[in-house]
Amino acid sequence: MTPDAPESFTVRPVVTREPVTPITVELKPCFADETLDGMNLLNEIVDRYPQAISFAPGRPPDSLLDVRRHIATLPRFIAALARRSGTTAVREWRRLGQYSRTNGVIQEAIALHLRLDEGIDVSPEAIITTVGAQEAMAILLTGLFDPQTDILLASDPTYVGITGLARILDIHVVSVPADDAGLDPDAVERTLRSIRGKGRVRALYDIPDFNNPLGSSLSMDRRVGLLDVCRRHGLLLIEDNPYGMFCYDGNRLPTLKAMDRDGTVIYIGSFAKTLFPSLRVGYLVADQRVGNCESPLARALSRVKSLITVNTSALCQAIVANAIESGRGSLDGIVAPKRDLIRRNRDTLVATLDKSFADLRGAVHWTVPHGGFFLAADLPFDFGAAELRACAQTYGVIACPMRLFTLAGGSRLRQIRLSFSYLTPPEIETGVARLSRYVRDRLRR
Ligand SMILES: Cc1ncc(COP(=O)(O)O)c(C=O)c1O
Repeated sequence: MTPDAPESFTVRPVVTREPVTPITVELKPCFADETLDGMNLLNEIVDRYPQAISFAPGRPPDSLLDVRRHIATLPRFIAALARRSGTTAVREWRRLGQYSRTNGVIQEAIALHLRLDEGIDVSPEAIITTVGAQEAMAILLTGLFDPQTDILLASDPTYVGITGLARILDIHVVSVPADDAGLDPDAVERTLRSIRGKGRVRALYDIPDFNNPLGSSLSMDRRVGLLDVCRRHGLLLIEDNPYGMFCYDGNRLPTLKAMDRDGTVIYIGSFAKTLFPSLRVGYLVADQRVGNCESPLARALSRVKSLITVNTSALCQAIVANAIESGRGSLDGIVAPKRDLIRRNRDTLVATLDKSFADLRGAVHWTVPHGGFFLAADLPFDFGAAELRACAQTYGVIACPMRLFTLAGGSRLRQIRLSFSYLTPPEIETGVARLSRYVRDRLRR
């Protein structure tokens, strides 16, 4: 305050009043749902036992994020972009600081990456650049589903990003039980029959490649079968594929979107694993027609995105475009070292499980994933919140209960998900030794 400031500008001291009872806010009933609480529980345990070896996070390895290089090469990318578009670097940098087009500014680059790395041929117009894959799910659920009438089918167990969000939005989810080989088209057919007349089944959600949480990959027969069931019943098939480029054995099978001839598949992608998660850049491919319009569904959904996040950060999009351009359209050069490291981790985990549980093979078993970040293991007893806590506290190891990802239950309640993407091989070996001690103590009791 200057001495001659008018009185009206004087800052008045805060008046202390009598304490009042704060108002209480009632949450929507879904907040009591276990599926929404599960992830909080897991985070709480990870925070509470920082010394425990955690097989929980589905993160890419810290050592290969290379954030500094992505940022350091950005000025060269911007200068080249300015030259190509006949503007100036100053102007391009300013554009990175501004609001930008709702559906994104790098769809050409994403379309090229999709063609080269995923065998998917789509027009840039059919792509929305999103704030992570998570926003793609939010756009689809809010833009396509009427909670009064529409049902989402989801393979079970599945990624809680979609089922949890559906729960918050009051969208009815019906689970289709998957087996160790992933989603079976016959199971989809059976589920559709069992819910006939109960609502309009709008879409089926699945992660066909290197599934989270199962680690499974669909066979070619199942891919063909799924497309066929969805087509016959008029369902959209939402294919979520953040792990496709992390294939460790043999050749990759085509994505459902690459096999799609009539617009059955809506495809979700993410740069969180191929580049790095803090970018929060993903995308949605929606090339379906809307009524008689020529423009794709992605154009219509832009209205939804504009009301959720307005646009995806242009700065983060530029980092993605730079990465794609540095590989002449392909991210394979950037992904390859991560893929090699995580493949070695997968091999270490499987070899250590083989060794540590050799005498318990009848009671403890696991599937060997051909790609991705996760492996599912069966234990001879239920593994829930209490077991998670005991394991972390007494044995110093954290495994993710499969029940966090399932709406169904049954034998899944005895399963755990082990993530092998983030730990080092010595940590994996120590973690499995601790897990083995826990299982043996439990069995003795
Ligand atoms: C199957 C699946 N979909 C989507 C995501 C989220 O991707 P994003 O970080 O781009 O939102 C994950 C992340 O773990 C995932 O496992």
